[in-house]
Amino acid sequence: MCGIIGIVSDKGNIKGRIIEGLKRLEYRGYDSAGVAIKTDSKIFVHKKKGKVYQMEEELKGANFPSRVGIGHTRWATHGEPSDPNSHPHSDCRGEITLAHNGIIENYQELKEELRGKGHRFRSQTDSEVIAHLLEEYTGEGANFLDALKRTVNRLEGSFALVILNSKEDALYFARKDSPLVLGLGEGENFAASDVPAFLPWTNRVIFLENGEMGKLTPSGVEIYKFSGEKIDKPPTTITWSLAQAEKSGYKHFMLKEIHEQAKAIGDTVNPRINRDRNSVVIEELPISPTEINHILIIACGTSYHAGLVGKFYLEEIAGIKTEVDYASEFRYRKPVLPPSTLTIAVSQSGETADTIGALRKARQGSKSLAICNVLGSSITREADATLYTHAGPEISVASTKAFTTQLSLLLLLALYLGRERGIITPEQEADLVSKLLALPSKIEQMLRSQEEKIRQIGIEISSYRNALYLGRHLNYPIALEGALKLKEISYIHAEGYPAGEMKHGPIALIDESLPTVFIATESKVLDKVRSNMEEIKSRRGRIVSLISGKQPAIEELSDGVIRVPQVDEYLYPIINIIPLQLVAYYAADFLGHDVDQPRNLAKSVTVE
Ligand code: F6R
Repeated sequence: MCGIIGIVSDKGNIKGRIIEGLKRLEYRGYDSAGVAIKTDSKIFVHKKKGKVYQMEEELKGANFPSRVGIGHTRWATHGEPSDPNSHPHSDCRGEITLAHNGIIENYQELKEELRGKGHRFRSQTDSEVIAHLLEEYTGEGANFLDALKRTVNRLEGSFALVILNSKEDALYFARKDSPLVLGLGEGENFAASDVPAFLPWTNRVIFLENGEMGKLTPSGVEIYKFSGEKIDKPPTTITWSLAQAEKSGYKHFMLKEIHEQAKAIGDTVNPRINRDRNSVVIEELPISPTEINHILIIACGTSYHAGLVGKFYLEEIAGIKTEVDYASEFRYRKPVLPPSTLTIAVSQSGETADTIGALRKARQGSKSLAICNVLGSSITREADATLYTHAGPEISVASTKAFTTQLSLLLLLALYLGRERGIITPEQEADLVSKLLALPSKIEQMLRSQEEKIRQIGIEISSYRNALYLGRHLNYPIALEGALKLKEISYIHAEGYPAGEMKHGPIALIDESLPTVFIATESKVLDKVRSNMEEIKSRRGRIVSLISGKQPAIEELSDGVIRVPQVDEYLYPIINIIPLQLVAYYAADFLGHDVDQPRNLAKSVTVE
């Protein structure tokens, strides 16, 4: 996730306003920053690793008489954070320059093709191929819009683009699966990843849809479909304050990030699927799949809970014995690592001190793999190899989209290992892959139909001092994670427990003052979970159930029901956590807590 902005204006101060806009987009990434400004018939580019304010310092005093420019603030995905990998990127002659947000999945093959035609690449990014493709097509005599149309139709993956060429005082743009909004001013127009970037100058906006592209001049806007058909889109006037706009209208980053999960899962999964066979592509493993004898997962907090689900995936689908350990415990034990162990360190930030410590210890006797969301972070530098989640920056302290993307990646890893080891057939792999690819739309469907009900349940839970979360098998870690979410942002004490263990102790707590949240979606252990519900009901405990399909007996026992769509049993953990994140969010918000920055917590725990 990166931030992009473009301004085309008769009013001047292009440089100052691009920098101002980028500062309001820095929540989308801050690995590097850059601007490109057209003066006369040349494009001036300045880009650097580091934050926007550093670039601002370096450009202090530089004055550019200009009508058009673009800017970018980067969340690195392909190529480490560095000066050459910073945006904007240019073609061979420096006549076409662009800023990109998204991931170009077929960039390797396009790069090969363009290299073959003599194009010279200066960065390791996926984005640079777009500038060279445009160069190739404009070189064939096409006008710029035609070249853009041909270019976008060759790109696979996601992109929001703002583009300059040295011949025109115009800004070109295109959008597919990454956000892009136009802002319409007086004698000036804007394009940006998000409304706050240009909100001080206009509140008349056009939200672009997938498959739309076009051209902005100071006085006009032209919008086309990728097919070339011209379309009319009336602007809407938005009434958000600047603070609201940074969260895209959501009250908190946590709520925004919960809603981003469908896209984050798609961004993590899609680049790893060979669509011809619906098979998983993983090339980064530091040890051959058939050599792995044992897997050790080390992580903390929410990432540890992802590891617990990963154990089910890796044992059941890949047939590999898997152990999961708290990094803070593992690092001070005398571990016995069987030969041919693969250690997997799971971390959103890549900077958690305990996970780094545990990884160092594990590397003394095993090969290591990081599952991480932050490119170039410490854990990715120390591990032998890394698989990245593409959740985009997680701003809220309570982790949400990092968790569901970690689960998705662990499932892909298990499918890949299972196939390579002959534990599952390619048909079984393809079946689960196609179901995983369909999951984002099921998540969106659930949010649309259930969010109001979940909000009411959250408000009801906020009136209790304690809560119990029960789940079994694949959903036991989800009970742990649901309880962690509730306690960390609402400060209500919550206990996650394996449902079958309840009778061995916690049942003593049950009375009308302790609500129990049951994860009761379809599974082979559902009948047993229902018996646990009966035990609670007969002790006057209140029950909230997460169900899928028709479950009249469970509904009868429940005081509140949240419905999730029916999915494959292995996908339930990924979808089930989302309503539990929302229950915690709405409980905390109702209690008036600072949801995004809960007391005593930090986003990155870089101390022991
Ligand atoms: C909970 C939460 C923490 C982190 C933990 C590990 O919402 O965010 O429990 O999961 O501190 O952090 P990472 O994944 O960055 O290593």
